[in-house]
Amino acid sequence: MTVSQKKCILVGVTGGIAAYKICSLVSSLKKDGHEVHVLMTKEAEEFVGPLTFQTLSGNPVIRNMFSLQDGAEVHHIALAGKADAFVIAPASANVIAKIAHGIADDMLTTTFLAAACPKLIVPAMNTHMLENPVTQDNIALCRRYGMYVMESASGYLACGDTGSGRLPEPHQIKDALESLLVEHWLEGKKVVVTAGPTMEAVDPVRYITNHSSGKMGYSLARAARNAGARVILVSGKTALEAPFGIETVSVRSAQDMADAVLRESGDADVVIMAAAVADYTPKDTADHKLKKSDSDLYIELKRTTDILLTLGQRKKPGQVLIGFAMETEDLLANAAGKLEKKNADFIVANSIAEAGAGFGVDTNRVTILSQNGEKDLGLLSKDETAEKILAYCLKEG
Ligand code: CTP
Repeated sequence: MTVSQKKCILVGVTGGIAAYKICSLVSSLKKDGHEVHVLMTKEAEEFVGPLTFQTLSGNPVIRNMFSLQDGAEVHHIALAGKADAFVIAPASANVIAKIAHGIADDMLTTTFLAAACPKLIVPAMNTHMLENPVTQDNIALCRRYGMYVMESASGYLACGDTGSGRLPEPHQIKDALESLLVEHWLEGKKVVVTAGPTMEAVDPVRYITNHSSGKMGYSLARAARNAGARVILVSGKTALEAPFGIETVSVRSAQDMADAVLRESGDADVVIMAAAVADYTPKDTADHKLKKSDSDLYIELKRTTDILLTLGQRKKPGQVLIGFAMETEDLLANAAGKLEKKNADFIVANSIAEAGAGFGVDTNRVTILSQNGEKDLGLLSKDETAEKILAYCLKEG
């Protein structure tokens, strides 16, 4: 996910073997165009050299409270004021204890205490230290003060133990951080998003499906989450990781997807049908694997439930329905037909014939149709396309 507006992000690094993983987080945030400042404790410097973070962030690393070069002691307070988000990763048990109690005895904790922006804490430590009730109480206290504390991952730890306490992967930390960077203009709203292909079983080993990667739907789900919505993602089988902070319901067939969406949409404010739902499914699914013979095989197909059409028929006042139309010809005429027939508020249309749009790629070019006309968003990344679809359909359109 990429937040398209450029932000000022403070990254606090404390002492722990996982500190090296933060190099790629800093690099990735910088590549997205954000202003990134790294603050290190002296223990962190035992694991990664400040020069590495300075080079990756393009800014001097803030390290020592008492070195007055370049007015650093004033600079860090100024930074606290302008920061859009502050992440501490890895967060040691020690720093968690300090920030839970307002202790500010070095540059990192002082700046943290002075910052009023959204804050993300990413604990990483030995399992027993994490599970210690003292640490758990400190984490609960941080949450009570409004900080977001990520669950740590489980697995093999550098100390030789296996269990919780591992630092989540940098892209997962970035995903969590980005959810703090956007204004929460969808706070209090429930948004249901579908994504990916459906799989229609022919027999226990074979199925009919399509090329959908699910990327567009996942981008929409994350963009809605970033805007503060409660998001339910109903996903067909994809290679994508379940996004942070989103309730993901995994489904296989069109009927499974219909059941999940119709169950979740009753009280939803917005439903976005980005999934490539099969229009047909085998009339009968064989109980046993079909054996080949010398003659051709014919599989009889029947229509599936048209989920968007059903939602359109049941639409409650104020509910917004957004459908997709992927076409190879007559894009706008076909999309306009779907808008009308399915009683959708918006149809997001794209042509797979267009360069940079379609299956598997990270970009898209869509035109949004509604009763008020049409809007071409131009060629953008799927993440930016998602942000713009939400803004157009739910704010401007
Ligand atoms: N859709 C749905 N249920 C289905 C099929 C599609 O909800 N059984 C939704 C898709 O998620 C998408 C929109 O309907 O939002 C696409 O409309 P549709 O007319 O089904 O498009 P195609 O499947 O491409 O159909 P056609 O072959 O008629 O173009």
